[in-house]
Amino acid sequence: VSPFLVDTFDRKHNYLRISLTERCNLRCFYCMPEEGVELSPRDHILTDDEIIRLATLFVKSGVTKIRLTGGEPTVRKGIVNIVARLNDLRLHGLQSIGMTSNGIALARRLPTLVENGLTHLNLSLDTLDPFKFEFMTRRTGHDAVLRSLDTALSLGLQSVKLNVVVIKGLNDAEVLDFLEMTRDRDLSVRFIEFMPFTGNKWDKAKMLPSSELLDRIKNKHAGLIKASDDLNDTARSYIIPGYRGSFGFISSMSDHFCGSCNRLRLTADGQIKVCLFDAKEISLRDQIRSGASDAELARTIGLAVRGKKAKHAGMEDIDVVSNRPMILIGALHHSI
Ligand code: GTP
Ligand code: 5AD
Ligand code: SF4
Repeated sequence: VSPFLVDTFDRKHNYLRISLTERCNLRCFYCMPEEGVELSPRDHILTDDEIIRLATLFVKSGVTKIRLTGGEPTVRKGIVNIVARLNDLRLHGLQSIGMTSNGIALARRLPTLVENGLTHLNLSLDTLDPFKFEFMTRRTGHDAVLRSLDTALSLGLQSVKLNVVVIKGLNDAEVLDFLEMTRDRDLSVRFIEFMPFTGNKWDKAKMLPSSELLDRIKNKHAGLIKASDDLNDTARSYIIPGYRGSFGFISSMSDHFCGSCNRLRLTADGQIKVCLFDAKEISLRDQIRSGASDAELARTIGLAVRGKKAKHAGMEDIDVVSNRPMILIGALHHSI
């Protein structure tokens, strides 16, 4: 990658997460307050052209992997067009175009997205129980998500993953049922530790460490095989002998993976954010709109990247007060 994408800990940032919108068609309690969040004025959101301009600069500088997030990326009107234009960046070295979606409005759009270049899909689904789904997301639509999952598995994507945020006492008893989803499907289910963000009712007591979950799984499934993980994977993966898919843990809280972090984020309103847990942001939008050249933008991005810390502060003092809620970061459609 170009030097401006390398930080002071020699981490090379070749993975860009682009949030396409702050809006979402769900209201997951772990992501945002019930009343929703205050949205940026419309004209603060990057246009399609601005997104492609920045994506092009990043790819030409060594980014090989782009993931579209939100809010919920499918609520952005131009999403197919954006994917198609990103697909042209393969010429310059882009290798994968992923999306993280809640699957509510996805099934119908998915074939077109895949035709236009989408290669990887992460789908969020925290429960197999429609009633619990309504409780967790404050909306209906469980069946639509399952339909999106089936569609995704039929389209020949390079990978389909299911993101399950585990909340103690709420959905942790469903873990074995989720594992059964991997018996006959080429699916990777990832159990995610509940993370604190502004307004999300985080409570350490509701966080179930992955190690505990793994012990429970081992009680039921002897002979788990550790799968190999890529250097930059957020998840540690396992295979149950005889099962077609795999499962894994994203232990953002108990065992962070900051040392191998290769990600940068672009928020929907055009800020570069070097870490999910760092409230500091630098606006690229203002610079683009005042006519900055690529070299000037690269300088600003480099400044942000060099300010990236070695790791997040840990469970005791993550800055939940000044950081954005998840919905505005783009973990997600949500984002982390
Ligand atoms: P892959 O490219 O498939 O590995 O996607 P991903 O796991 O990076 O992204 P996804 O959008 O599916 O996010 C799943 C979970 O990963 C989120 O809920 C977060 O818990 C975690 N995650 C994603 N990005 C970061 C990050 O930059 N820092 C930390 N600590 N966790 C992250
Ligand atoms: N903790 C852990 N994961 C979260 N996500 C959203 N909010 C949180 C949180 N507080 C997940 C979404 C989505 C992914 C991008 O981030 O469920 O799958
Ligand atoms: Fe739920 Fe994702 Fe929407 Fe947040 S952005 S409310 S986690 S679906």
